[in-house]
Amino acid sequence: MKPYIFITRKLPDDVLSKIQETYEVSMWDKEDIPVPREILLKEASQADALLTMLSDSIDRDLLTSAKKLKVVANLAVGFDNIDIQTATELGIAVCNTPDVLTDTTADLTFSLLLATARRIVEAAEFVKNDQWKSWSPLLLAGHDVHHKTIGIVGMGKIGEAVAKRATGFEMDILYNNRTRKLEAEERLGVQYTPFEDLIKKSDFIVCLTPLTKETKNLFTREVFQQMKPSAIFVNAARGPVVNEQDLYEALVNGQIAGAGLDVFEVEPIRSSHPLLTLSNVVALPHIGSSSVETRMTMMKLCLDNISAVLERKTPKTLVNKDWQAAIR
Ligand code: DGY
Repeated sequence: MKPYIFITRKLPDDVLSKIQETYEVSMWDKEDIPVPREILLKEASQADALLTMLSDSIDRDLLTSAKKLKVVANLAVGFDNIDIQTATELGIAVCNTPDVLTDTTADLTFSLLLATARRIVEAAEFVKNDQWKSWSPLLLAGHDVHHKTIGIVGMGKIGEAVAKRATGFEMDILYNNRTRKLEAEERLGVQYTPFEDLIKKSDFIVCLTPLTKETKNLFTREVFQQMKPSAIFVNAARGPVVNEQDLYEALVNGQIAGAGLDVFEVEPIRSSHPLLTLSNVVALPHIGSSSVETRMTMMKLCLDNISAVLERKTPKTLVNKDWQAAIR
């Protein structure tokens, strides 16, 4: 019997043609609707491999009931939706898609910063809604980006790629990270800065840190209160890193000037959410890595990782480095 791969969202047929020659593959056939939990559990209990989305919860219950499962390949660089410890205990490899999405995600992050600072979304709506009556001196005046200070929280590969873009805008670049990045400091002229100083000094605070126990609820009322009133906060990491109620109050009370958000505590966010009622918030539907080229490359990488594990090889981008394949 051929090993069985279950894919939790509809992917384009041509990405699958090669893998279908060797494996039995089936997928949840909706592009816009996540696979219901009971179907995911049933499929996982039969599958040798899962190709998952960041919106699927691959928790202990699922992993322990998936008796044949050998690999979970997540279509994202982040893997906070997967219980890595349990997967490792059970000998299940977990793979993600780093590197291939770095530049695409950095482009989106910097676009979000620019869009928020220069009020691009508001201005585009203004024109489309026929509100433009005449040119006027302070019409939709925003904030300059060039020559300002950017503070990057989470200096992984995407953080470095955002810093590289910021050099083109001749910005002063501060960063905070669990470990110092001496090579990046040298190459990009970025300056390691304690978190408390970074939030006070930066005009743009860009959050790119992974979601972990330590970073959950990192941006709270106390943190927003210390930012400049002209500061713009950008989050392209994960929603739960931010206390959304505190962010809302900071925006309404003028403690900060604006926010550009690609991620939210609960996704999809609804239009009735208080943050979405504010004109100084630019909100996107978690599209950091979403260019056609990059998403296709991410899909192929997931499938390569699955094939590698099923062929008892080491996958290219393994998350749980201490993984030892279980004999299943
Ligand atoms: C990921 O892949 O984890 C990011 O959220 C990019 O959008």
